[in-house]
Amino acid sequence: MMQTHPWSGFANAHVFVAGGTSGINLGIARAFARCGAKVAVLGRNPEKAANAAAELGPQALGLAADVRDPQALGAALEKAVEAFGPIDVLISGAAGNFLAAATDMSCNAFKTVVDIDLLGTFNVVRLGHQHLRGAGSSVLTISAPQASIPTPLQSHACAAKAGMEMLTRTLAVEWGRQGIRVNALVPGPIGDTEGMRRLAPDDESTKRTASLVPLGRYGTLEEVANAALFLSSPLASYISGTVLNVDGGYSQGGAMFRMGA
Ligand code: HXC
Repeated sequence: MMQTHPWSGFANAHVFVAGGTSGINLGIARAFARCGAKVAVLGRNPEKAANAAAELGPQALGLAADVRDPQALGAALEKAVEAFGPIDVLISGAAGNFLAAATDMSCNAFKTVVDIDLLGTFNVVRLGHQHLRGAGSSVLTISAPQASIPTPLQSHACAAKAGMEMLTRTLAVEWGRQGIRVNALVPGPIGDTEGMRRLAPDDESTKRTASLVPLGRYGTLEEVANAALFLSSPLASYISGTVLNVDGGYSQGGAMFRMGA
């Protein structure tokens, strides 16, 4: 007998992607849309949100709110639920970043990244939780290698993402009895993203970063999206509290030994 593909279960599922209007998170939204899901993408910029929704197709909704603003975020979640019903897959990926030494950062600069990455993630999962369908729902946070690799010029992102991973693992424990799985995805250097344009802005830094990846190259948006589909699907039904690297081996420490380009 023909087996149905586990990802076909996403047809008409409600997938809510905070930060889904660009980059890695838009790549993830595209993958779910291709599986037939109803995808709500949320970003700060209304025009980017509308453009992303138009690209994702008729079953998509673009919402504008800042994850730092619980009231606006709560209203956006309600709009999504009105349109698509309870949320099956909740993804928190909104992030902010810039390169700066700790001594060149104002207190507000550090706070800004913690506010977006860590507190913003809490807002998304805390307010999104009450709209989850329930047992079988999946929550996914998008972290970064900085969570476990102390990285110069990234003290804000290192601190925020480390907190985010611990929040993710703690909620996996709190929400496990409800049948809700909570996992984190850790994309390494991924091409065609705002993050890498900021962190490795020229050819030389791009080459240097790629040479630190054991697989010797940047990853693609599709490779991250595949991992998001897996973690949100029934194939991962016994996986919760996991922090999954999608980074070509970048975070394994051996990356410090250059293997040649
Ligand atoms: C020092 C800086 C700075 C810089 C901003 N600030 N840029 N300080 N060096 N390069 C300071 C400002 O002076 C201000 O402090 C404070 O930070 C807040 O800045 P605002 O511009 O007012 O904040 P806001 O408009 O909210 O913008 C947030 C932002 C911005 C993070 C600063 O860059 C942004 O909107 N980014 C969103 C897009 C983005 O970053 N995408 C990449 C995510 S990738 P004062 O004291 O003057 O008030 C990612 C993955 C990382 O996160 C891992 C990849 C491997």
